[in-house]
Amino acid sequence: MATSRLVIALTGASGAAYALNLLQHLGRMRHPVDLLVSPSAVRVLECEVDGERDWVVDGCPSLKAFELDDHDVRVFRRDDVAAPMASGTALKAGMVICPCSMGTLGRIAGGMSTNLIERAADVCLKERRPLVLVPRETPLSLIHLENMARLVRAGATVLPASPGFYHRPASVGDLLDHLVVKILDALGIPHDILRPWGDDA
Ligand SMILES: Cc1cc2nc3c(=O)[nH]c(=O)nc-3n(C[C@H](O)[C@H](O)[C@H](O)COP(=O)(O)O)c2cc1C
Repeated sequence: MATSRLVIALTGASGAAYALNLLQHLGRMRHPVDLLVSPSAVRVLECEVDGERDWVVDGCPSLKAFELDDHDVRVFRRDDVAAPMASGTALKAGMVICPCSMGTLGRIAGGMSTNLIERAADVCLKERRPLVLVPRETPLSLIHLENMARLVRAGATVLPASPGFYHRPASVGDLLDHLVVKILDALGIPHDILRPWGDDA
């Protein structure tokens, strides 16, 4: 049976490199992905990664800019609320929002569904599919914390972009990998990126 497609959405929080690393690992593992990008995420990609690339073309993420293979990745406009992941019949494997802005997180917690990213997250919650939110914000206000608590009670995983240091990272890449492993583990997706803690074999 074919592996179910995982929805990956980038929103306008700092930490775009985490998403790029996640997409590269999923691409290497040939895991099928549906990709969504908010306009604010494009602004962050320009600030944090490369201001010269056309990250979005005709409203859709550009596979060329993201250095992804069209064999494994489908791209969608954020306003395409008729896309497959807007329905529970198509959204089986779940969704990762990485990085997740406090705006998107708050709108999902409030059930707003003002665009395809928020609608797909809403579908994950109502259909009891995995939903992993990766916020970067710090410090957190009471409003942020209450929105997160509400989402966790509704079934989401809130997985802050706070990489561990017990693997003795030697590079930024190692720190990115550590967080990506956490995301894949939360979704139950097997990987070979890092050995589990305590596994010296
Ligand atoms: C470089 C940059 C970094 C940002 N970092 C964050 C952040 O870490 N967390 C956050 O909630 N918003 C951050 N913002 C602000 C959001 O992009 C802004 O609130 C936006 O409206 C979010 O829109 P979206 O949720 O539709 O992507 C950042 C903006 C820029 C330009």
